[in-house]
Amino acid sequence: MRLILILIPIFLFAKTDWFITKLEYGKMLYNNPRGISCAKCHGEKAEGKIIAKYYILKNKHKILKILKTPDITNISFEKFQKKLFHKNLSVMPKYDYLTNKEISAIYLYIQSISRNKK
Ligand code: HEC
Repeated sequence: MRLILILIPIFLFAKTDWFITKLEYGKMLYNNPRGISCAKCHGEKAEGKIIAKYYILKNKHKILKILKTPDITNISFEKFQKKLFHKNLSVMPKYDYLTNKEISAIYLYIQSISRNKK
């Protein structure tokens, strides 16, 4: 009896790893990476979208500027990972707290969107 009591928590813990697939995990993180959602700026399907429109004045002329995020469904893993840890001044926040496992899950998810597009 005592053995069973010890085994139950171990079994439950081991099971949580399989509760959702890596793809679902990636989708969840893409939408909620413990920070600003990637989807908010890059779009539901990571295809990129317009996030701001503004005007600047140049020689007394109003010039419309459009800030659009790039499509991120077709980039290498190295580039993807590097961007999350970027140190440059950018509209995009840093996500340097994400673990390797989380990053590869998000990457897997956006790659799956790209495959579905074709
Ligand atoms: C506040 C808006 C915003 C959010 C939130 C955001 N991004 Fe970005 N992202 C941008 C913008 C703008 C660019 C393009 C300009 C630049 O590179 O700084 C970009 C560029 C990128 C690039 C580089 C693409 C290329 O071709 O060079 C990747 C990869 C990327 N984002 C992934 C993500 C992921 C993954 C998340 C969520 C964890 C995320 N972004 C969240 C705005 C955002």
